[in-house]
Amino acid sequence: MKNKKVNKLRVAIDGPAASGKNTLAKQIAKKYKLLHLDSGKLYRYFALQVHQSKDQKVNYTKLKQALKKLTLQKLKDKKLTTEPITKIASVISKKKKIRQMLKKVQHDFAYNPPKKFKGSILDGRDIGTVIMPDAHVKVYLTASLDVRAVRRYKEYKKMRIKTTLSKVKSDIQKRDYEDTHRKISSLKPAKDAVLLDSSFYNTKAAFVEIDRVIRNRIKLLNATKHKSL
Ligand code: C5P
Repeated sequence: MKNKKVNKLRVAIDGPAASGKNTLAKQIAKKYKLLHLDSGKLYRYFALQVHQSKDQKVNYTKLKQALKKLTLQKLKDKKLTTEPITKIASVISKKKKIRQMLKKVQHDFAYNPPKKFKGSILDGRDIGTVIMPDAHVKVYLTASLDVRAVRRYKEYKKMRIKTTLSKVKSDIQKRDYEDTHRKISSLKPAKDAVLLDSSFYNTKAAFVEIDRVIRNRIKLLNATKHKSL
């Protein structure tokens, strides 16, 4: 891969659904001037293409075309967070070909962020294990199922999405199962990831914790060979 050795900070945050990865990754990105990618949005973007097709089937030619037209703006589409898209994303993410197609996009974000950024931060399920195995900082963020369900339910309420807490909980539980039991790129902490259980942390406390991990890591890297970080 080109430019893999560019001395920019790479941060990987993985964890199950609704563990707070995205909120924290956004905050870290802002503080450290990193390009941020919520990789789940890529699977959701593909899921939307499948959902919008007549037969609701995966058509790789169409997905390839959609990938060429992908912009950051398209990943902000509110439709991506709807329930049918969430379900389809969970199903199609098991497909090897889908993951291969999206790996290239994620690598571009991870290893070639535009000059104005001091590095990149990606959050997802397999960032520290598959996408950026050489990330300088890896965090595996989790929280109990109950805590995550309540958090996600509150988010849906704010977005005026009608649902119930028990439905949100069972959907998350199902997605956790699918993500941890799939054959490829299953959800698990990288061997060198820092584990953070945010069940009893609010976002601010979790941010402080991750920030501390990053600062320590930067200090260590600067003291050794990565002088430009
Ligand atoms: O993170 P989010 O819930 O938006 O992800 C949607 C779906 O995409 C997940 O349920 C998961 O199956 C899939 N995904 C994945 N690998 C990633 C990110 C998301 O398989 N790195």
